[in-house]
Amino acid sequence: MNKNSETEFRFLAEPTDVNFGGKVHGGMVMKWIDQASYACAAQWSKHYCVTVSANAIRFIQPILVGQMVTITARIVHTGRTSMHIYVVVRASDPKKEEITDTNRCFITFMAIDEDGTPVEVPTFTPHSKEEEMLEKVAISGKDFAKKLDKHYQQMVGW
Ligand SMILES: CC(C)(COP(=O)(O)OP(=O)(O)OC[C@H]1O[C@@H](n2cnc3c(N)ncnc32)[C@H](O)[C@@H]1OP(=O)(O)O)[C@@H](O)C(=O)NCCC(=O)NCCS
Repeated sequence: MNKNSETEFRFLAEPTDVNFGGKVHGGMVMKWIDQASYACAAQWSKHYCVTVSANAIRFIQPILVGQMVTITARIVHTGRTSMHIYVVVRASDPKKEEITDTNRCFITFMAIDEDGTPVEVPTFTPHSKEEEMLEKVAISGKDFAKKLDKHYQQMVGW
């Protein structure tokens, strides 16, 4: 594993995180994903980082109030200035063994300096079959997101 390539957040889903049905708001999950990924990107680049794009955030299962939430964010691909992070969210009843995969996504951050100028980041090198596979998926996600950006510009006008 590459040093400093992974962060993990763990906490309980609180009453202020949930809707009237006792399920965590989608926007709250997105905030947690953004925070865990920011920590991962800053730890990797040793710079302040900004979110460039969040791709294919999937809501697979709801997270319930009182569940223990675990967010794992891993660098799986780097470009010149961008870091592509694979995030998995899991939830469990802390009194039980069973754990559920609730969300996954790829999110891209860029490192910038004090003037807002993009900064080059250390290169991520995959060291296992799993890391090679995740890098491939991240690259295909990046290519797809850039294609979508182009379609917006061509068809929507900005
Ligand atoms: C993020 C920002 C600095 C990028 O500006 P930019 O210089 O025009 O971006 P570029 O097109 O040069 O792309 C920058 C990097 O992101 C990558 N990228 C661009 N679009 C992407 C997308 N849709 N998905 C994934 N990666 C993407 C590029 O490949 C490039 O990476 P590289 O240097 O490793 O090749 C600018 O858009 C910005 O300030 N956005 C607002 C950020 C923000 O407010 N975030 C939320 C709060 S932190």
